[in-house]
Amino acid sequence: MLILGIESSCDETAAAVAEITENGEKRILSNAVASQIAIHRLYGGVVPEIAGRAHSEAICPIVSEALEKAGVAAKDVDVIGVTSNPGLIGALLVGVSFAKSLAFATGKPIVPVNHIKGHVAANYFCYPELKPPFLALVVSGGHTSIIDVKSYTDFQTIGRTRDDAAGEAFDKIGRVMGLSYPCGAEMDKLASLGNPKAFTLPSAAISDETLDFSFSGLKTAVLNSLNSMAQKGEEYKKEDVAAAFTEVFTSSICKKLESAIKKTGHKTLVVAGGVSANSHLRNALLKLCKKTKTELCIPPLSLCGDNGAMIAAQAYYEYLAGNVTDTSLNASATGIR
Ligand code: KG4
Ligand code: ZN
Repeated sequence: MLILGIESSCDETAAAVAEITENGEKRILSNAVASQIAIHRLYGGVVPEIAGRAHSEAICPIVSEALEKAGVAAKDVDVIGVTSNPGLIGALLVGVSFAKSLAFATGKPIVPVNHIKGHVAANYFCYPELKPPFLALVVSGGHTSIIDVKSYTDFQTIGRTRDDAAGEAFDKIGRVMGLSYPCGAEMDKLASLGNPKAFTLPSAAISDETLDFSFSGLKTAVLNSLNSMAQKGEEYKKEDVAAAFTEVFTSSICKKLESAIKKTGHKTLVVAGGVSANSHLRNALLKLCKKTKTELCIPPLSLCGDNGAMIAAQAYYEYLAGNVTDTSLNASATGIR
C-alpha cells in the first residue's frame, strides 16, 4: 500500500510517500520538507498569516517532489493522509484543501490525521516491533504532553502543560538572549558549555498529584533574572542561562515521567516532537529508562521535527480503523492536547 502524507500545521510544508506491506512493514520512499524558518526568523516567531501564504506557495511543489522522489504518480497512491488538527487554522487549511482537491481528482480516500498522533507514529519506522499500549512523551513547539497510548488510534492524555509548551520556552528565552528563531538547537549546544548551577530556577513539574507541567513560571523566572541583571548592568553568560534552564526542563520532564511510568505500569516510553532532538533530554531519558527498566524509543533527528512520513504512518492505522473521510473534511485548530 502506498500512502501520501501531507503536513502543513505550523511552519513546515511537508509531503512524503510511505510504502506499507501487507504485514505492516513500513518504508519511507520520500520525505520532502519546505521549511519556512528563514521567513519567520525575521519576526522572532511564526506569523500565522504569513505561514498560510507560504504553505499555499509550497504545497504543489512539495507534493510533486515527494511523488517524484518516490518514483510514483498521484494515481498510484492508495490513501491520502493529511494533518487536519491541531495547529494554525490558516496553515492547516492549505494542506486539507490540497488533499481534498487531490482526492476529488483521483478518487482516492482521504484520512485525517492528528498532528500529535503523527509525531508518535514517526517511531514505527525506526522501531518495527513497537506496538501499543505504551507511554508517550510529546514535546514540541506547541505541545508538552504525557500520553497513555492505548491502541494505534486511542490516545489518552494523562499529563499536559497548563500554559506554555517546552519548545515555546526554549524559543522565548533564546530570543531574549538574541538567538535566532527557532532557538532550541542553539540552546542545546550552549547548554553543554555552561554551568547549570549559575541560576536557581523553579521546577516546571507542578507540585501536586497530577502529571501536569507549567513552563510559563520557569520561563518568566529566567526572563526576570535576565532583566534584573540588565538593569544592574551585570553581564551573564548565555551558556549558563541555557544550562540552568535545560537542567530544570529535563528534571521536570523526568520527574513526571517517572510517576507516569509507575502509575500506568507501561514498559515502553516513546518520545516524539521537535524538542525530542534535545541531547540533554535524550541523555536524561536514557538514564530514567535504565533506572525504571523501561524500553526507550526516540526517532532519529530527521524524524523529530514536522514531516510528512509521520503523517503517512498514522494515516495507515487510521485507515485500518476505518477513519476515512470525504471532501467535506474541515481543519480544526484544536485536537488532543
Ligand atoms: O515538532 P516541531 O518541529 O513543531 C511543532 O509541532 O511545534 O517542534 C519545533 C520546536 C521548536 O520550539 C524548536 O526550538 C524545538 O522544537 N527544538 C529543540 C531542539 N531542536 C528543535 N528544542 C530543544 N533542543 C533541541 N535540540
Ligand atoms: Zn510538530
